[in-house]
Amino acid sequence: MSRRDPARDPARDAAHDAARDAAPAGVRYPHLFAPLAVGAHRLRNRIAHASMTTRMSVNRRVTEPLIQYYANRARGGAGLIVTEPVSAARFQQAPQKVRVWDPESEAGLARWAQAVEREDCRLLAQIQDPGRGRHERGRNPEAVGASALPDDLSWTVPHVLSIGDIERMIVDFADSSRRLQRCGFSGVELSAAHGHLFHQFLSPWMNIREDRYGGDVEGRCRLLCELLDAIRSACGSEFMLGLKLPGDDGIEGSIAAAQAAAIARLLNATGQVDYLCFAQGSHAASLDRHLPDLHGPRAPYVALTQTLKDAVPGVPLMALGLITDPAEADGILARGAADLIGLGRALVTDPAWGMKASRGREADIRYCVSCNSCWAAITEHRALACDNNPRVGLADEVDWWPALRAQRKRVVIVGTGIAGMEAAWIAAARGHEVIAFGEGIELGGKTRLLTALPGGEGLSSIYDYQALAGKKAGLRLELGVRAAPADVRALAPDVVIVACGAAMAWPHGFPIAWREDGLVPDLRACMAQLRKVTQRQSGTAVLFDMDATEGTYASAEYLRRLFDRVVIVTPRDRIAEDVPLVNRLGILRRFAKLKIDVMTLASIDADSSLEDGVLRVRHVYGGALEDIVNVVLLTYATPRAPDLAAIEAFASCAPEFHVIGDAYAPGSTMAATAHGHRIGNLI
Ligand SMILES: Cc1cc2nc3c(=O)[nH]c(=O)nc-3n(C[C@H](O)[C@H](O)[C@H](O)COP(=O)(O)O)c2cc1C
Repeated sequence: MSRRDPARDPARDAAHDAARDAAPAGVRYPHLFAPLAVGAHRLRNRIAHASMTTRMSVNRRVTEPLIQYYANRARGGAGLIVTEPVSAARFQQAPQKVRVWDPESEAGLARWAQAVEREDCRLLAQIQDPGRGRHERGRNPEAVGASALPDDLSWTVPHVLSIGDIERMIVDFADSSRRLQRCGFSGVELSAAHGHLFHQFLSPWMNIREDRYGGDVEGRCRLLCELLDAIRSACGSEFMLGLKLPGDDGIEGSIAAAQAAAIARLLNATGQVDYLCFAQGSHAASLDRHLPDLHGPRAPYVALTQTLKDAVPGVPLMALGLITDPAEADGILARGAADLIGLGRALVTDPAWGMKASRGREADIRYCVSCNSCWAAITEHRALACDNNPRVGLADEVDWWPALRAQRKRVVIVGTGIAGMEAAWIAAARGHEVIAFGEGIELGGKTRLLTALPGGEGLSSIYDYQALAGKKAGLRLELGVRAAPADVRALAPDVVIVACGAAMAWPHGFPIAWREDGLVPDLRACMAQLRKVTQRQSGTAVLFDMDATEGTYASAEYLRRLFDRVVIVTPRDRIAEDVPLVNRLGILRRFAKLKIDVMTLASIDADSSLEDGVLRVRHVYGGALEDIVNVVLLTYATPRAPDLAAIEAFASCAPEFHVIGDAYAPGSTMAATAHGHRIGNLI
């Protein structure tokens, strides 16, 4: 139920609730909502929340926001939840992880378990250690590992665990499992994937030990076998034991599909494993496989999971990786490729994913756009956050619908990009009369341009949801109208919100004559033009990059489809610096494949020239000049700047005035939806 203002009009209240709940009777996904026996437990459905770090614990303790986050995913329909990794051995001191080995955590753990389990959802804590592979920059002096070999990304050489260290760790993990059980957890998941400690023991690339924990596959699996036995002995047969394993870690000489099958077979033969799950990639150049995005196919790892199924008959298998759609999930189960559906990012974006799917309300789901901003947030030490869910972690997050305002206002919004639309649908659902003007005939603003680029299609989910919610709430859209202040004033609004975005600024230092000639377009204008071009163009396209965000590189890929050669020129020492590392590695991989050239530390300035197809660029530090030949297109991606005068012209149109999104301060997709969300709720 939504919160309400005290002055209530029952008819308006009823219409408000009906707007949210109205949905056609739909397909119910029989496979997804079939119960499943896992170990001694019976899950109510096949929806499993995959482990994700939330950074919602404080001082190593369970917090209310943390409990709320998980309880909401349970309330929203998950049948099984795997928590973020906890500190289960005494050497684990990470500040962002709940300290399970400490008896003082018990009260919090019990509240956490109760909040989830009472929703008929089984709660498992994830036990792992990052070992040498922490998703953070720089060397990690606290890292432990199988062998004194450098991590593939940070080159951290870990402290090698002695046999005594390993034995103590196993005892600690078993004791902590017992504590979790006492506190009401149904089980634990051991994560031996993603290049973390247990994975490091399994891999011949990372484990060159000569004692009983190294050597052949049996030796490399011994740590996990002993751990499974120890936890089972401590907690008994009722306690659920899940295992996340590498399916194919993408490192030469490490764990490809055949080794993964051998490892899974051996571990499953212990008879202690209640379910299995395979992840891809490692903490290495293959890290991008950790979180597949839409540059590749949907659900890309299901085929491999299905292949590995033969190695582990009889044990429930969880499919994982870019599964976002209920029909897709149901299909995977229907064809027997897996028994459970692991959802990571999809449940960050919409905790009520399962509930909505079960009620035929799949159109109401806010879908994951696989931007990986969630991952960027946690690796930058912020709490989990989402581009398409501005309410992550709030108490009322499940199937949230705005509360009605007693006083109805007339609200005019200028701009139907994602910031404007977020404010618009919320204001309308709050009972205001809302009219939104969009200059283009389609809504979504600049985000829509991104959806036409490689890997961008998922972004449409942001404005698709907003449009649908707006429609239900009675939002009036005036598209294809460039509203002038006089048009807005004529509507006598109580509130005006300007969300007209910002334009890429002329690159500082570019010869001004190029602008006067109009020969050098910004990247957005360029891509809008090129959308209509299908024929290949001979010659070189040069993209001057002072942006470092995802859209620039997706544009480069698009340009490469059309032009013989694409060169990115950037004054920075590397590209894609502002993109989450998982995505950045994907960009580098595709650039190598597509042969997109990158010139770093190169500037285009007063010493530069563009004559007869020769572009002269200058080294930022050394000053040396270099020519790029056969240039037929020069475009730029730069920090955006709003048109302040145009914005200010609307200030006097209404007593209440807001500027949001890029028009306020150019920022990320997440910043735009969050700002629109906040202002929509304010008025
Ligand atoms: C923000 C974030 C944090 C994650 N943290 C963990 C983790 O701590 N342990 C783990 O095993 N997997 C972690 N993962 C990986 C997920 O469990 C899952 O394997 C991955 O997200 C692919 O599933 P998806 O495509 O449904 O998101 C994380 C993923 C995300 C997006």
